[in-house]
Amino acid sequence: MRNLTQDNITQAVIARFAGTPDARLKEVMTSLVQHLHAFAREVKLTEDEWFKGIQFLTDTGHMCDDKRQEYILLSDTLGLSMLTVAMNNEKPAGCTEATVLGPFFVEGAPHYEHGDDVGNGAAGTPCRVRCHVRGIGGEAVAGAEINVWQADAEGNYDVQRPHLQQAQARGVLRSGSDGGFHFRTVVAEAYPIPTDGPGGAMLRATKRHAWRPAHLHFMIKAPGYEPLITHVFRAGDPYLDSDAVFGVRQSLVADWVAQPDGSRTLDFDFVLNPDRAGANHDVSLAGAS
Ligand code: BEZ
Ligand code: FE
Repeated sequence: MRNLTQDNITQAVIARFAGTPDARLKEVMTSLVQHLHAFAREVKLTEDEWFKGIQFLTDTGHMCDDKRQEYILLSDTLGLSMLTVAMNNEKPAGCTEATVLGPFFVEGAPHYEHGDDVGNGAAGTPCRVRCHVRGIGGEAVAGAEINVWQADAEGNYDVQRPHLQQAQARGVLRSGSDGGFHFRTVVAEAYPIPTDGPGGAMLRATKRHAWRPAHLHFMIKAPGYEPLITHVFRAGDPYLDSDAVFGVRQSLVADWVAQPDGSRTLDFDFVLNPDRAGANHDVSLAGAS
């Protein structure tokens, strides 16, 4: 087909995907082209702006390595991550809500026993965290694997400190026979997401702040239940209503209760959704080669 115009090029591109054997891929590519072209028409995209966009995405790619995923950060700040979480984690009332994974989860964190200091030298106000894992029927979920990770008093994760030799403020625990688990750590503080890449440039250009309200991350896995990826946020944090990545749920906000000795305690119970039969919870990206 030749001499395509701005009026018929969209249909011509979509037609080129007609032979896509994978029906889902065909659906996604068709919709992507439709929305991409509609966007260009709506904003009357100039050639200069098109090229700036290409440069922005190129810079984003250059910022990525095995420790830094600038595309995920971009997805987070555009609300795409949280939209995807919300669409894919509708649960019955009473279940703990999910929120974004974020870029600081690390596979293979050290294992801890109940009462251990997961902080492991991280700076901050001492804090005791006491939790239970239950099902929606109220039943204790014993033997759940719990990953916890958080920022320290300066708002840094251990992986953001290149010279640190050991994991700090992250670990893996198992719930006991009553579904309970508890550990010591430091109080998590609010922090700005990394702004040294194109995502940060976008925030500055649009006069948006980069802060996330203070939170503890949890990933909980137990046989027979859907995995839960969530946070517990600190009540009173000034960024609860303007989280840079749109991840706050009111049901996840809790008090870090001040104690007479200056430490804090956090009590929080998680409620898991029973597994849907045959659900695939792999978080890996399928190879497309
Ligand atoms: C986090 O909570 O660790 C996080 C989430 C999204 C972007 C950056 C950080
Ligand atoms: Fe975080």
